[in-house]
This record gives sequence, C-alpha cells and structure tokens, in this order.
Amino acid sequence: MTTFPATFPDGFLWGGATAANQFEGAYLADGKLLSIQDVMPHGITAPPTQEPTPDNLKLEGIDYYHRYADDIALFAELGFSVFRFSIAWSRIFPRGDEEEPNEAGLAFYDRVLDECEKHGITPLVTISHYETPLHLAKTYDGWVDRRMIGFYERYARTLFERYGSRVKYWLTFNEINAVLHEPLMAGGIWTPKDELSAQDLYQAIHHELVASASVTKIAHDLDPELKVGCMIIATPAYPLTPDPRDVLAAKHFEEANYAFGDVHCRGEYPGYLMRSLAEQGVELDITDSDRETLKNTVDFVSFSYYMSLCQTVDPTVPAGAGNILGGVPNPTLESSEWGWQIDPVGLRVVLNDYWQRWGKPLFIVENGLGAKDELVEVDGVNTVLDDYRIDYLREHLIQAREAVRDGVDLLGYTWWGPIDVVSASTAQLSKRYGFIYVDRNDDGSGSLERYKKKSFDYYRSVIDSNGAALD
Ligand code: BG6
Repeated sequence: MTTFPATFPDGFLWGGATAANQFEGAYLADGKLLSIQDVMPHGITAPPTQEPTPDNLKLEGIDYYHRYADDIALFAELGFSVFRFSIAWSRIFPRGDEEEPNEAGLAFYDRVLDECEKHGITPLVTISHYETPLHLAKTYDGWVDRRMIGFYERYARTLFERYGSRVKYWLTFNEINAVLHEPLMAGGIWTPKDELSAQDLYQAIHHELVASASVTKIAHDLDPELKVGCMIIATPAYPLTPDPRDVLAAKHFEEANYAFGDVHCRGEYPGYLMRSLAEQGVELDITDSDRETLKNTVDFVSFSYYMSLCQTVDPTVPAGAGNILGGVPNPTLESSEWGWQIDPVGLRVVLNDYWQRWGKPLFIVENGLGAKDELVEVDGVNTVLDDYRIDYLREHLIQAREAVRDGVDLLGYTWWGPIDVVSASTAQLSKRYGFIYVDRNDDGSGSLERYKKKSFDYYRSVIDSNGAALD
C-alpha cells in the first residue's frame, strides 16, 4: 500500500509574515511621508483622522525599522527559510506620484535583504499591503482613479530593478478581495465606504487587477525567473443548513472572492461576475489594452487563512462571525477572543478547492491566532505559556499536510506575525500573534524588549523536522 510521508515536501518554505505599517514604526524617517495607516489609529473600527494622532500605535510600531537585524536573527533562530514582509510604498515614493524614488527608502530594504541573505532566508515581498501613500488616497481617491495603474507600475518596476536579483517571490496586493469590504484599507479609497458607489468600487477593483497583471508582465520581462503571486483572503463559506438556498448563498459568497483568483489565474472576467455587475448596474470601463494585460496570469496563488464562516438566507440569524468578510457563526466551532472562528479543517478545504480550481502552486502566506498573552517568569526568564497558540499552529499544519497528501502543490507556510505587531483590524498591540513577545502595550507603554514565548521552541521543532514533530 502507498504510504504518505509525515513530513512536508523537500524545499518546503517555512517562515513568518509581516507588513511594514504594522511593525516598522519610523513613520516619517528618511524621507517617508504618510500612508493611509498613519491616520487610521483605530484600524477599521473607526474612520480615519485628518492628521496622525499620538494614540496610533503604528507610528512607532515595534520599532523594527531600527531593530530589524536583531529581529531577523531571531527569525533565523526559529529556523525560517522564508520571511514575508511588505515594502512601505510611502518610503519609496513618499507621495506616490513622483517621477523619482526616494533613495534612502530603497536603501533601508537593501539592509533588510542583507540580513536575510546573511541568514540564508528567502524573502517573499508584498508590494502593497494596506499602506497606500496618503497623498494618493486624498488626491486621487486611490484606485478609483485609472492613473493609479501608472503610479503602481513605476513603483513595482523600481522594486524589481533594485531587488529582483535578490528577491524571487513577489505578491502584488495583500488580500486584494478585502477591497470589497474595506475600500480605504485595501484600495486607498478616501471616499467613506457608505458613500462609495458600486460603480466606483468595481472600477477601482478593475484598476487593481489590471495593475497586478501589468506588473506580473514587467517582472517576467525583466527576469523570467521571478515568481509573482496574487494574495487573497481565503474564507470558505459553509451553508448554515442543508436548505438549497443556503447552499446557493454560500456559493455566491464564495464567488465574490473566487472572482479575484479567477481573473488572476485565467486572465479574464468570469461570467458569474459579469452577471452580478450587470445586476448592480455597474458598467466597467475595460479597454482592449486592459483585456490584453489581464492575460498575464500569476505564477502562484497565495492566501491568508484565519477562519471559515456560514451563510444563510434566513434574515433572523444574527451575523457575527468573521472579520472583514461577514457571515453568520458556525455552531460547531469555537472562537478566538476576537470572535474569529477556529477551523483547521477549513484550511484543508481551501487548499484542495483552490488547487482543483486553478491548478497553480499555492502558498499559505498568513495563518495565526491573535490572543491576549500574559508575560510570566519561568526560571528567571520572561516568557508566555501560549499552549493555545501551539495548538492552533499544530492543528492547522496537520490539515495543511493532509492537503499535501491529497496532492496539493504547496510551496510554503508563513505564520502571521511571528513577532507581535500592531493589529490591522483593531490597531491594538494586545491582539498578539507572535512567537516572540514584544513589550509594548495598547497605551503605548513598554520597553520594546523581545521575549521568546513557549511557542517559539515548538515552531522551531516543527521547522527543524520539516513537519514530523507535529505527530
Ligand atoms: C490579514 C492582514 O487580514 O490579517 C494582516 O493581511 C492582519 O495585515 C492579519 O494583521 C490579522 O488581522 P488582525 O486584524 O488581527 O491584525
């Protein structure tokens, strides 16, 4: 009988994922100007402010801008073979629409890449992770304006030319489907979301999709070895009941997210989306050149996975589950302290589903548990006894391994926030994901010292054994 290995494939990439705005700090250093995050002190829970305010934890982050060498050394100690980080657009093109990049911003990421190289860590770079330059948001209304495609192309080309010999894996937009629900955070759209028309929202999405395909071509033209991926929020939707109308509701919910992957992988708009747009009275401005550009499909599909949710046509069922995407709670699942429902099997569902749908290699570039941690002293050493995080990690990786056994081509796994960072949705530091605790609190107090949690050693053992330690 054929047996299936207890380990992941040879060369599987193990690591962690971050985003510039959530941990770098130094929000005006070396020529950087404001990004949208610098005026979002409460994440997506409240509207942006006009100017940065002192309660915005992202302004200082965890001071990675100055501590990156030590932090990357800790990642190396964890055994990382890959490190996902984003480049802050507003460090490279501080306003976003300049002709020339900011050399001091570029030099910072040279130094980061030096450290990765020193430790033999493969970089995985997100070009745009929820951090559109504020000037582009306020002046152009972000991606609603077609000129954003040109600004983004110039930015991405600058990155490929500067770092392309050192960075093989690129992601175009973090969680591109989040723009459906959070147009400011994911699309730099300054118009408040309750005033934004469906027409403008979908036109903005179209511009992002064209920009993503266009820079995929730019990367491949510069160096065919470069691998460019899309990045979507993977949230499987289950019907709440066997009522076929609930099944269809779940399917429609999934289509709204599939559409982004379909365009990225198939190079054209799917029929179900065209119908849905027509029914919403949306008429997209799609040029012939756009259609040609969209044919530049991605090399791989990456995604974040935190939870699943349920859908129903019954309006009496209260919503509640989910983060950005909505949905109703699944009565069979438990939730994190922030109400995100924990569903390891859903990860296997997603992996099989995406592999069967798109046939492209997959990369889990975010997965993790945000929890309140308590720093304690054990044998004179500060640590966190985070068995709940170990359990989450283990259960999800077991399901990922099952998917690999099912035949899914999986490139790697990067845990979200291997070091505590500021939360994207709530802008708190108390929503901690890390294997490394950072002494900084929601009120801004703390020494910024780093301490290894119990999960640090566990993840290291999983990586060292290429997954065998899960059993
Ligand atoms: C994803 C984002 O939505 O989830 C990250 O890509 C984010 O930026 C992560 O931090 C976890 O979400 P949160 O809101 O708990 O930080």
